[in-house]
Amino acid sequence: MIYNDTLNCCGYENIKKILISEDELKAAVQAAGEKITQEYRGKPLMLIGILSGSFVFLADLCRNIRLPCEIVFVRSSSYGDSTISNEDVDVNCRIKRDISKYHVIIVEDIIDTGKTLKKMTEELKEKHPLSLKVYTLLDKPERREVDFAADYSLFTVPNLFVVGYGLDYSEKYRNLPFIAEASI
Ligand code: IMP
Ligand code: MG
Repeated sequence: MIYNDTLNCCGYENIKKILISEDELKAAVQAAGEKITQEYRGKPLMLIGILSGSFVFLADLCRNIRLPCEIVFVRSSSYGDSTISNEDVDVNCRIKRDISKYHVIIVEDIIDTGKTLKKMTEELKEKHPLSLKVYTLLDKPERREVDFAADYSLFTVPNLFVVGYGLDYSEKYRNLPFIAEASI
């Protein structure tokens, strides 16, 4: 859905088109939280958010999970100031908690080439969590370079550079309350 009157939202320019509205995000995140609530009841649950892009999605998702859970963050970086993913994904999976005692859900903003999550899931599996699943807000399957599929993807997006709801271009646009295509 396109809301032309909000294209200058928050003072940003270069927003071409809104792809996913606030209402659509809210409904989908609520449904994902409900699914996790049903599936993990009575189980020790840990959410691992991948910084920085997942911070808004995780903040909303965790408030829709009506169970106790622990939340930690790890960092990854592949874009820098560019819109082209770097070849080498820098993943930092140093978590102080012993994740072998938890059912773990990795929470990510978007799967693009798939390299970040492939590397991250491989590293986390070596720490033997009770189970490991990946929830991603967005999936951009046309860009995949390695074989990787999320367990739960809220939206599929076309091969465009998207911003908002945590996703950035050069650290900007993260505070947009919707997902938009940016002309960058
Ligand atoms: P991947 O390793 O290529 O799958 O890239 C994953 C990371 O690249 C994501 O976690 C995002 O932070 C970033 N990324 C990929 N596509 C986009 C986009 O369209 N907008 C903003 N960030 C993106
Ligand atoms: Mg990210």
